[in-house]
Amino acid sequence: MINIILLGPPGAGKGTQARKLVDDRGMVQLSTGDMLREAMAAGTEMGRRVADVMSRGELVTDEIVIGLIEEKITGGQGAGFIFDGFPRTLPQADALGELLTRRGLRLDAVIEMRVDDAALVARITGRFTCGACGEVYHDATHPTAKPGVCDVCGSTDMRRRADDNEDSLKLRLMEYYKKTAPLIGYYYARGDLFTVDGLGEIDAVGAEITRIIDARCC
Ligand code: AP5
Repeated sequence: MINIILLGPPGAGKGTQARKLVDDRGMVQLSTGDMLREAMAAGTEMGRRVADVMSRGELVTDEIVIGLIEEKITGGQGAGFIFDGFPRTLPQADALGELLTRRGLRLDAVIEMRVDDAALVARITGRFTCGACGEVYHDATHPTAKPGVCDVCGSTDMRRRADDNEDSLKLRLMEYYKKTAPLIGYYYARGDLFTVDGLGEIDAVGAEITRIIDARCC
């Protein structure tokens, strides 16, 4: 079992690589962004509270996301957890450390995915997702084989996120550099940080992540 964090700015490819690890290794993806979007779609009270904050591109409160993660980590699970988009602040990182210790688990690696801002804009503005199975695509770099039809499940329910526009992205990037980038130093100081070049092809980035995981877990 191995537990990892995928750390990187919006559009770095965290979700794309997390899904590969779920498929290839049976790991469990814990994406706070997905959990918040599910709450919004379900129309829960919390979902209604976070909707505006998320569409602007700001972070929701630590209390909400820590609560979401706490509910999901009920013990060791399968091949391990991939924390995707969590933690994003120093209090979230402290909370995750305490939570894992309480559950008898440990953090094995924090993988920082580095991508420059120009590439992030292109990735975010071209992204679309299958509403049925969650497969992530891109207009230019990863289109569906048949226009409008999911390669994985055949659904035609393709969606674009409300915060995937240039204005929201500017704010999301500012939030990242102000509140999340300090985690790079936090985990470096603990000896847990590994950095990959997120600008490579999806499979090349995946191979690099696999190399790090294999070196840490065996
Ligand atoms: P969240 O859903 O976590 O979004 P994000 O961090 O902004 O990250 P993204 O999902 O946009 O990008 P990604 O890195 O997963 O990239 P992807 O693989 O899709 O958070 C959304 C919001 O929720 C936040 O703004 C905040 O409001 C709230 N929130 C969530 N967690 C929170 C927390 N912990 N605390 C507080 N608030 C929280 O790839 C992007 C595109 O690029 C795709 O089209 C893909 O096909 C393409 N692509 C991927 N890799 C490559 C590659 N190597 N080469 C070419 N194209 C690629």
